[in-house]
Amino acid sequence: MIKKLSRCIGEYKKDSIITPIWITLEIVMEVIIPMVMAKLIDLGVDAGSMSAIWKYGLILLVCAGFSLFFGVMAARSAAVASAGFAKNLRREIFHNVQTFSFSNIDKYSTGGIITRLTTDVTNVQNAFMMIIRVAVRSPLMLIFSIIMAWSINARITMVFLAMVPFLGVAFFLIMRGAFPIFERIFKTYDKLNNVVRENVRGIRVVKSYVREDHESEKFKGVSQTIFKDFSKAEKIIAFNGPVMQIAIYTCMIGASWLGAKLIVGGSMTTGELVGIITYAMQILMSLMILSLVFVMIIISKASAERVCEIIDEKADITNGKDPVFEVKDGSICFKNASFSYSKNAEKLCLKMVNLEIPSGSTVGVIGGTGSSKTSLVQLIPRLYDVTEGEVMVGGINVKDYDITTLRDSVAMVLQKNLLFSGTIKENLRWGNKDATEEQMVRACQQAQAEEFIEKFPEKYDTYIEQGGSNVSGGQRQRLCIARALIKQPKILILDDSTSAVDTATDCKIRAAFKNEIPDTTKIIIAQRISSVQEADMIIVLDDGEINGVGTHDELMASNQIYREACLSQQKGGDFDE
Ligand SMILES: Nc1ncnc2c1ncn2[C@@H]1O[C@H](COP(=O)(O)OP(=O)(O)OP(=O)(O)O)[C@@H](O)[C@H]1O
Ligand SMILES: [Mg+2]
Repeated sequence: MIKKLSRCIGEYKKDSIITPIWITLEIVMEVIIPMVMAKLIDLGVDAGSMSAIWKYGLILLVCAGFSLFFGVMAARSAAVASAGFAKNLRREIFHNVQTFSFSNIDKYSTGGIITRLTTDVTNVQNAFMMIIRVAVRSPLMLIFSIIMAWSINARITMVFLAMVPFLGVAFFLIMRGAFPIFERIFKTYDKLNNVVRENVRGIRVVKSYVREDHESEKFKGVSQTIFKDFSKAEKIIAFNGPVMQIAIYTCMIGASWLGAKLIVGGSMTTGELVGIITYAMQILMSLMILSLVFVMIIISKASAERVCEIIDEKADITNGKDPVFEVKDGSICFKNASFSYSKNAEKLCLKMVNLEIPSGSTVGVIGGTGSSKTSLVQLIPRLYDVTEGEVMVGGINVKDYDITTLRDSVAMVLQKNLLFSGTIKENLRWGNKDATEEQMVRACQQAQAEEFIEKFPEKYDTYIEQGGSNVSGGQRQRLCIARALIKQPKILILDDSTSAVDTATDCKIRAAFKNEIPDTTKIIIAQRISSVQEADMIIVLDDGEINGVGTHDELMASNQIYREACLSQQKGGDFDE
């Protein structure tokens, strides 16, 4: 894991290495200062020599200045290194997520990916900063201070070294109590993120069902848990204070008592005593900080693991060897194709599908909700791979194509369609980034989107909000169809893409398809019989199996499910019929 993460330090290696160097220099200065201080007291104050006070005062000032300078430089390079490291981590995650197939995304969920990109990366960034700054600083400080104190007086140094095991045990006990709580808090953070995300995304639904109070309660519950856990953890951590105080005062008293005896005996000076007490403080402080850093690093280990997991995730749909870069035509063939979303599922979502669809034909797909209509067509642009059997496009197995080539030839308007923030033009250019104005207008005419676009004051430059929230459902569907048409695909798949469009417009769209893109294979999934009635071939799906294939008339005569659906839509006085 460490190897993988350190690879992401990349171009910030220089800053990462230079930080400990600056810190070492800073510590050298900080260690010299008590020494100079001792001299200033002994040779200046006690001896009453003004010139010595000036001399050592000046040295003190220079040392302090250097210490400050090194400290600032260390902070600067640590900040650059850790922020750069975080940037690289985010880039790695983001790039890898772009290669994910639908099934990779199913595994992580959108929320999980976002938490990893934000909170987890920030945790790792902070831990990294701690490692290159504090984790270097404290041990060095500890060693230098002990050496310096020892060189002044070994006996007094032994007094506060005796405190080290006491502190060690105390900190260990405190951390053992607090650590599990911190771990729990981080897990609850995930929950809090989920509650907030779900609420903000679905705020309109929350409002229309007047569920604000319920949502507030849910939020309050999670946030209360975090509050309680945090207070509990902080209460335990708060013992650090008294423990430190005990250690410090014991050291002070011990050192003063021993020191006083030595001073009276003439084997030690006042300055030396002051110096040694300062070193004692530095030793104890370093110990305390070290214990805290240790906890922080362990806490962020969980985040580091989550980050590594997503960087390591391999996309499970990739190009094969010697991929094919041309799709000959829009013919489709399913051969004994079976499919399931998870590798070890007992129940198959699609069972032994066999189909022959000639290029340029119009195919309707009908079936109840959950009958695997979407699952069937997703196999054509290889959004998922078949579990068994094969799917061919233009006479070649979809797995043998270059994925970009295949997906450029197969345009699919997803059931959960989406527009992105940007102008209408920018959204349309997703289909083809070099599309000309005429091509865009033409695609919009075919998708019957032109009439409403022309009514917008800024026409094709109208700004679409995130998710397309400022256009109606039917308008969004038509823009999505236009975006797919701009690709000039060999196969066009509409997954329930005209469900929010009125019947007359739906009819116009189908007429445009028939007249203007006769060579494109069109697959239309619909709930309304009227949307597929004129298709060359209608597929009736039932619980993942093909129940019937034929034209409207053939199915009316032979297929019960189709006939019943048709009759119920007529009888129900559905406005479509
Ligand atoms: N991403 C997924 N992960 C796991 N199971 C899924 C996933 N998507 C769909 N399913 C399951 O697969 C089955 C078929 O779903 P599918 O979306 O293909 O149905 P559909 O015919 O398109 O339905 P609808 O008319 O509601 O769109 C359902 O039982 C569904 O629960
Ligand atoms: Mg569907």
